[in-house]
Amino acid sequence: MKILGIETSCDETAAAIVQDGRTILSNVINSQIDIHKIYGGVVPEVAARSHIEVINPVINQALTDAHLTWDDIDAIAATYAPGLVGSLLIGTLAARTLAILKNKPLYPIHHIQAHVYANFLNEKTPEFPILALIVSGGHSQLMLFKSHTDYEILGQTCDDAVGEAFDKVAKIIGLPYPGGPSIAETAKQGDPNTYKLPKAKVSGKYDFSFSGLKTAVLRAVQREVGVDITFPSNDLAGLLNDTQRANFAASFQKIAVETLIDKTQQAFQDYSPKSVVIAGGVAANSELRRMLSERLQIDISYPQIELCTDNAAMVACLGYYQSQNEQPTDPFNIEVLPSLSLK
Ligand code: KG4
Ligand code: ZN
Repeated sequence: MKILGIETSCDETAAAIVQDGRTILSNVINSQIDIHKIYGGVVPEVAARSHIEVINPVINQALTDAHLTWDDIDAIAATYAPGLVGSLLIGTLAARTLAILKNKPLYPIHHIQAHVYANFLNEKTPEFPILALIVSGGHSQLMLFKSHTDYEILGQTCDDAVGEAFDKVAKIIGLPYPGGPSIAETAKQGDPNTYKLPKAKVSGKYDFSFSGLKTAVLRAVQREVGVDITFPSNDLAGLLNDTQRANFAASFQKIAVETLIDKTQQAFQDYSPKSVVIAGGVAANSELRRMLSERLQIDISYPQIELCTDNAAMVACLGYYQSQNEQPTDPFNIEVLPSLSLK
């Protein structure tokens, strides 16, 4: 079964064709990072306009790359939640129109669940029950999947998502957007024990908090460069030298990653899952991978780096499993749900 996946929930316009939820036949990603870099973050209106410009060429490219025509496509799967409303609308409208015109079944996909399914594109597929650490620019969650249809959220962030914290700290210390990759790269030159940053204590056993850590970095930078809290935060980065910047990147990354791993380890001990997977853009972080493999007594297979950040192969993959368990949706009636939780 060949499924065309469409993903436009944030700032990547993506289309991919996946066979039987396993084999990627094509995977086209048009990233808007260069456009949003100028503003230091994603501008929703700009993102939506950019999706409109490229959605048709991206879908056509996915067919061309896979050497397929519409006759070969068995179904369409498109992200309808959560994300930026204008962005979600472009992908779902394209998917609805194509489903009607080409007479294909349509499966609505939850973006966060799709991130988890990037792991089903690995050589070795995960086994249920699966403990999933989902870490992206918009989400930080620990979930337990008992099957493809039975899953629960064990814990989540009380405030900022961890990817958001990477992005905000990068801005404070003067590293480019997106902050995750630039902090990870810069941290390699730094000493993670230079600045003592706090690990947030939250009441939920598997919950996280990252906004205090971001503020702690801000205060530590102010102290380091000798200004008080009234000093404009946009001007702070210019006062740091490269060594201080690398040490802040490493010190922040260490605590952010440890926070995630402490809770994952707790859930691992409590639920004894058969597999542990990580998903979402922050899953690309090599320090997170290294520490997780060190702390958990289980063989973890990670998604390929390009399948960690937003892509449509994961959407098509989840579409396949949905097609095995659920009826397709009515293409005339699908709504986008920008803040829909997975459970
Ligand atoms: O999953 P994703 O592409 O988009 C959302 O659904 O949010 O995740 C993007 C997030 C950004 O916050 C980015 O800074 C972060 O993932 N990220 C990373 C790394 N690569 C991307 N964070 C830490 N280390 C990385 N190597
Ligand atoms: Zn994402």
